[in-house]
Amino acid sequence: MQIYVDSANIKEIQHAASMGFISGVTTNPSLLAKEDPSTDIRELIKNIHNTVGGHTSVEVISTDTDGMLREADEILSWFPEATIKIPFIPAGLTAVRRLSDQNIPTNVTLLFTANQALIASNAGATYVSLFMGRLDDIGTDSLIALQDTCEIWDAQGLESMIIAASIRTPIHMLECAKAGAHIATVPYKVIMQSMKHPLTDAGLDAFLKDATKIKM
Ligand code: G3P
Repeated sequence: MQIYVDSANIKEIQHAASMGFISGVTTNPSLLAKEDPSTDIRELIKNIHNTVGGHTSVEVISTDTDGMLREADEILSWFPEATIKIPFIPAGLTAVRRLSDQNIPTNVTLLFTANQALIASNAGATYVSLFMGRLDDIGTDSLIALQDTCEIWDAQGLESMIIAASIRTPIHMLECAKAGAHIATVPYKVIMQSMKHPLTDAGLDAFLKDATKIKM
């Protein structure tokens, strides 16, 4: 399972990327809105992509097909490597089909069920983003939706890449990998939590202390 950073914060992304295991970044309007209001969003997104180098999703905000396609064109004019992130609504699926027919990569977002993911895949989505945390927030077991999705993908041999999104805890990340998601897009905080283990820290302290007693 590949790990993306779910963030628009360049400092977080730079640090995560510097560790060598990140292969993409997903952004959304809510993440971009958390950054300094004076930020030039185009420059930020290009900077993010130059930092990580792999997948970078940029979300459209139109809710009609023509508007989404216009936005996609506009985004691709200054950032040709963009994956266009599109919400799972009927107008969005039409846009996904049109972009897919032009070989433009798409990431269909706001998916909460395996059926939605299956439909997005049939519309030509390159990536389907299934949200975990927001399902758990309303008392629905997100793991069941993800397991169903992965089972369908195996049974049908579907090609769209499954992104587990709305990841809130290290347990989510573990569950997504076990279920067979291709990618988890993980907030920086959860990446750092997932790396932390007290025995790693204590073990390193002990090694460093003992290293002072030996000659190399
Ligand atoms: O990738 C989608 C993700 O950003 C949503 O996360 O925590 O806002 O549900 P969250």
